[in-house]
Amino acid sequence: MDIGVFIPINNNGWLLSATSPQYMPSFELNKAVVQKAEGYGFDFALSMIKLHGFGGKTEFWDHGLESFTLMASLAAVTTRIKLFASTAVLTLPPAMVARMTSTIDDVSGGRFGVNIVSGWHKIEYSQMGLWPGDQHFGKRYDYSTEYVRILRDLWETGLSNRKGEFFQMDDCVLSPRPKKPIKVVAAGQSDRGMEFAAELCDYNFCLGEGVNEPTRAASVPARVLEAGKKTGRDVGAYMLYMVIAEETDAAAMAKWDLYNQGADKEALAHLLGKAAEDTTAADTSMAAAVLRSPSPINFNMGTLVGSYAHVAKMLDEVASMPGVKGIMLTFDDFLLGLDKFGQHIQPLMSCRAGRVLNAA
Ligand SMILES: Cc1cc2nc3c(=O)[nH]c(=O)nc-3n(C[C@H](O)[C@H](O)[C@H](O)COP(=O)(O)O)c2cc1C
Repeated sequence: MDIGVFIPINNNGWLLSATSPQYMPSFELNKAVVQKAEGYGFDFALSMIKLHGFGGKTEFWDHGLESFTLMASLAAVTTRIKLFASTAVLTLPPAMVARMTSTIDDVSGGRFGVNIVSGWHKIEYSQMGLWPGDQHFGKRYDYSTEYVRILRDLWETGLSNRKGEFFQMDDCVLSPRPKKPIKVVAAGQSDRGMEFAAELCDYNFCLGEGVNEPTRAASVPARVLEAGKKTGRDVGAYMLYMVIAEETDAAAMAKWDLYNQGADKEALAHLLGKAAEDTTAADTSMAAAVLRSPSPINFNMGTLVGSYAHVAKMLDEVASMPGVKGIMLTFDDFLLGLDKFGQHIQPLMSCRAGRVLNAA
């Protein structure tokens, strides 16, 4: 079972709360996070791209670094961990992303991959004059399909002449090409998003669900498996969970309660409003998941709250769901959380037994 970390590229990580740790994103913070993760034997680190925040008193995600440039700098200060950057497809032409990928593949010695973000948060793009119109909500996976095909043309052959609805390539060239095949991942929760991943990606990230209900989201990796059967490709599900761990269940739950009491209502209202803009969103989409949640202080992502032993047991249950090939973690406090995970939780996880651990 692979383990990864969803690094804090924007302020305050994944908690829309005034009583959770408050911090700005920086290279130094993310370097410390990724180096610690590497020391604890993590397989990969992923940074998202988020170009507009949600405001509120915590200025949630109003402060964020850029994903490819951050991962390039992290590639230079790590040696083993795999690194994924995210491209918001409306902002970066595929030929440029192909070349940035070749560059970071070279810096990292073949440890780099790309997360495809089709775009669900309109203001990120309309603020730059890059929103093509609301028809994009319904077309974003068609757009992403052409985009990834061009990436693959360039990486695999060094040339693209692909002509489609959105892109017209004209003897577009790439050299040097990446030395190793580039892993492409996506994170659609809707059926169309999973269809896209099953056709063109290596893994699909899935939101876990609930608090201390590790297998509640079982239908989600099952849908990834199902989509893979239709395309005949082996696409794994990587599950996303937040871990809040302390020595005892009571101490961990007290923290989670505290964070909920500090919910940044203004930022949450903004998030919910933006999620509702996609009127085409299916029940299975991420926008719908955010809207359903009664208290989405962490985007309603699956949350594991408890003692080290309790969290380890729950992570083993997550790993046991059919279709799950990996788990990506977020923490309330990333540096402390990684130490707790590396020193106390991971050694108790059967799904991580046998991994060489070189604790930092
Ligand atoms: C692990 C993970 C990473 C994601 N990364 C980004 C990101 O970098 N930027 C972004 O705007 N959306 C990101 N998303 C949102 C998805 O890319 C996708 O747009 C969203 O799930 C909506 O698609 P859907 O309607 O198919 O569910 C992420 C979601 C998950 C679960």
